[in-house]
Amino acid sequence: MPPQRIALIGFMGAGKTTVGAILAARLGWDFVDTDALIEVRAGAPVAAIFRERGEQAFRDLEADVLAELAQRQRAVIATGGGAPSQERNAGFFNTAAATFHLRVSLEAALQRVRGSGPRPMLSRDEAGVSALFESRQSVYQRLGIAVDTDGREPASVAEEIVRLLRNPRGSQAPAGSG
Ligand code: S3P
Repeated sequence: MPPQRIALIGFMGAGKTTVGAILAARLGWDFVDTDALIEVRAGAPVAAIFRERGEQAFRDLEADVLAELAQRQRAVIATGGGAPSQERNAGFFNTAAATFHLRVSLEAALQRVRGSGPRPMLSRDEAGVSALFESRQSVYQRLGIAVDTDGREPASVAEEIVRLLRNPRGSQAPAGSG
């Protein structure tokens, strides 16, 4: 059975929102960005939630939104870069959705986020950002089917995901069919 939900994971700047919107349009599915949904629910921008309530409060909102989205049908869901690192979200990525990891090098990621809105998790020194990037790679790899993004147009990344959905590598059908 084809999946009912597609989740995109990856580091900040991987292109989850851009690719997700293209993919959703291509499939005729809804597009949901968890950060945008959290902002609506909280009535505040992500950066303000971090600043005024702290990271833990943001992670709680994020986990609530993901639990809710596990019931949503025909949706492409772009998730925040830190969502897969939370153990409580593992079930969502493992079973509720067909999860794709948009792989990006740290250099390309930083290039892409330059000039975009504030990202609280990047307000640390270069070594700290690099350590955060490295610390997240194994969980992205474990939870998602890898799709490279460096040097590629978002539409081409979205097309690759469509191809993988039709013809998943290996014998396992993508999760998220229920
Ligand atoms: C975060 C990534 C952000 C947002 C928040 C925390 C992270 O989303 O959820 O600032 O921990 O990596 P993007 O990956 O869409 O930038």
